[in-house]
Amino acid sequence: MSENIAILKSSALVEVAAASASAEIETLRVKYLGRKGELTALLKQMGELSAEERPAMGAMVNSAREEIETALSERRAVLQRAEFNARLASEKTDVTIPSGKAQRLGNHHPLYQVWDDAVEIFLNMGFTVAEGPEVELSEYCFDKLNTLPGHPARDRQDTFYLNEDETVCMRTQTSSVQIRTMEVKKPPIRIISPGRVYRKDEVDATHSPIFYQIEGLVVDKGVTMGQLKWTLNELMRGLYGADVKTRFRPHHFPYTEPSCEVDIQCFECGGKGCRVCKDEGWIELLGAGMVHPKVLARCGIDPEEYSGFAFGIGIERLTMRRFKIPDMRLLYENDFRFLRQFG
Ligand code: DAH
Repeated sequence: MSENIAILKSSALVEVAAASASAEIETLRVKYLGRKGELTALLKQMGELSAEERPAMGAMVNSAREEIETALSERRAVLQRAEFNARLASEKTDVTIPSGKAQRLGNHHPLYQVWDDAVEIFLNMGFTVAEGPEVELSEYCFDKLNTLPGHPARDRQDTFYLNEDETVCMRTQTSSVQIRTMEVKKPPIRIISPGRVYRKDEVDATHSPIFYQIEGLVVDKGVTMGQLKWTLNELMRGLYGADVKTRFRPHHFPYTEPSCEVDIQCFECGGKGCRVCKDEGWIELLGAGMVHPKVLARCGIDPEEYSGFAFGIGIERLTMRRFKIPDMRLLYENDFRFLRQFG
């Protein structure tokens, strides 16, 4: 029997040493030391021994059990540490390598960059921003601006009317905000109003049915055309630099008297004449003038006491000159290859 114990012990120790995973250790423990295990089976055979033999055999079985137990727990510890280290290695996060696809940051649309810059220039001059609706009464878009029924600017071909009798339209100009302001505010008035306007124009390099304007209005005692010129020149210097050249040209608008259009010298040819300025040497940017006395009077402001100037600037044109963009459609196509150049 002692031989059996020795064989069992050594085969157990060999198997324990060869175990390659901590889970195998439990299987081996059950196999050798469990209730139905091999060592227990040997113990059961002790009954067949004589009383003299029993103590020595008992001691041998116990020492074999202890040795196997020790071997099991030592091997288990070694395997568990190795398994833990392997897990640490495999689950390690390497914070030194990029974690994924870099996100591209967007940038402000060039149109809104110029919008923001222009608004800031006006705010610094003491203007405040006023707002008005894009769906507008024809009364505010036309009548109160001295543009009466029958005037070509009201033509169905040019204006998106929203009803049959043409009393409601998509505003064709931000000038309607002048009226809305003067009806609720008395002089001194100094406002600008940037916003979207709508006209029935076909899309081409210089036209779009939806575009942007900045309206301006100043009403006070003793307001002059000289102040209008200074204000607009200040805007152009702010946007295009100190040596920008402007030209004020007589024009006609029903709601100003006198009226003018303002051009800047062509950025492309410096005034010599080229394809961009259509050989003019100048590029038109806006309309302006002294507010017509009838317009003031209709809004309850006495034209004998007060005078005012007003202007309406195309933001697309400002932007195209600023960034030398040759075709207006580029501003609306949302092509990232184009837009990212203005980041
Ligand atoms: N409303 C004009 C346009 O859309 C621009 C304009 C001209 C605005 C003269 C004004 C003005 O306020 O006084 O072309």
